[in-house]
Amino acid sequence: MSEAGRFITFEGGEGAGKSTQVTRLADRLRSLGLEAIATREPGGTPNAEALRGLLLNGFAEPLAPASEAMIFSAARIDHLEKLVRPALARGAFVVCDRFADSTRAYQGALGHISGDFIDTLERLAVGETMPDLTFMLDLPAEDGLSRANLRRGANRADRFESEAIGFHRGLRDSFLKIAAAQPQRCVVMDGARTVDEIADDVWRLVERRFLGAAA
Ligand code: TYD
Repeated sequence: MSEAGRFITFEGGEGAGKSTQVTRLADRLRSLGLEAIATREPGGTPNAEALRGLLLNGFAEPLAPASEAMIFSAARIDHLEKLVRPALARGAFVVCDRFADSTRAYQGALGHISGDFIDTLERLAVGETMPDLTFMLDLPAEDGLSRANLRRGANRADRFESEAIGFHRGLRDSFLKIAAAQPQRCVVMDGARTVDEIADDVWRLVERRFLGAAA
């Protein structure tokens, strides 16, 4: 649990609508005069964005999933040190598109890395800075992929979008398992609803948990 500010993450498969919800939530917090940082992983700082390029253009694909997980974690360490922790220390809200659960699902469960390896990596990279609240946007893999295809248009699919449908079905299961294992942190949301419906539910929960609104 973060000390001063609040750390909120969005997780889910491809095309689940996370980035839209990150923007909506940060905007709504700012409209109340609160400081809110919208950021993403891999990325969020110049060094981490450079690593993002390597990770998503397929350069790191020939490496073993464990090595890939370490590069995602290297990007995460930079992001946490330079952006996330300083913002939380100031009392800001940090709203992040993907975080450590993505490493657990994409590299851990689907790359068949041992639970011990992922646990150790997470402890070293993230330490105490686990999210206060995580929204898992849940959607059938086929629906998410077709949304991602539409959004991408003529651009080439990235390294993970190009994986077979079985990979994306497995991802959905992994995220749901993480949510079931950590119900106090994770909230599963039906990603098939409209952007407004999801944003309203997200807001109700954030208000209740962090802004002292009545249930
Ligand atoms: P992005 O374009 O942000 O995907 P999306 O819009 O679906 O969120 O690309 C991030 C990709 O990186 C996505 O396919 C998931 C993958 N990823 C991992 O494999 N491990 C990680 O730890 C993180 C943060 C992302």
